[in-house]
Amino acid sequence: MSPVLALRECAAALPPQGVSAGRPVARDAFVAAMARAATGVWILATEGPVGPVALTVSAVSSVSADPPMVLACVNRRSHARDAVLTAGVFCLSLLTDEQVALADVFAGRPAEGEPFDFTRAEWTTAVTGAPVLAHGAAHFDCVLSSSVEAGTHTILIGTVVSAARAEGSPLAHADRRYARVVPLDQ
Ligand SMILES: Cc1cc2nc3c(=O)[nH]c(=O)nc-3n(C[C@H](O)[C@H](O)[C@H](O)COP(=O)(O)O)c2cc1C
Repeated sequence: MSPVLALRECAAALPPQGVSAGRPVARDAFVAAMARAATGVWILATEGPVGPVALTVSAVSSVSADPPMVLACVNRRSHARDAVLTAGVFCLSLLTDEQVALADVFAGRPAEGEPFDFTRAEWTTAVTGAPVLAHGAAHFDCVLSSSVEAGTHTILIGTVVSAARAEGSPLAHADRRYARVVPLDQ
């Protein structure tokens, strides 16, 4: 074997420089890097055994269009996670940039008033019975199809039984701040 080939084989067997094979990156480095990713800001809501439950979430993604499916990652310690697993339904409402105060209410840290106060917003009822935020940018009403435990979070995967879009500019979140979406082609 030529020395060049031997060197290439050797390099292929080693992890890339600076990578310790299989060992997770430090939490702070992970969180700092992930904060750069711009996301939408959503209210995940369901009907709990003793009334409506809602939580601000940004870890939301489209999964499939045929059939229509979405996912949301919710902390295992969250009351909303248990409520969704019990109810078997949830609705994701996308906030607009005029609903930023609601993001903090349902993150449990309102600038004023009580955390998780449903009277701070107007709601309607989705097909599944889950609460839909009125005047949101869009909503996805879901039947829970499966859930996956992953680290500190539970991935809730839902089949979308009704969806709609509305007026208003979606609220974004990046670098730990709320933001507006500004198109670049204007
Ligand atoms: C913009 C934003 C996005 C969030 N995204 C998520 C999320 O995707 N999943 C989640 O479980 N919690 C998310 N949270 C946190 C919850 O809304 C809530 O603050 C947290 O569960 C309450 O934690 P505590 O019980 O420690 O106060 C987010 C909060 C904010 C403000």
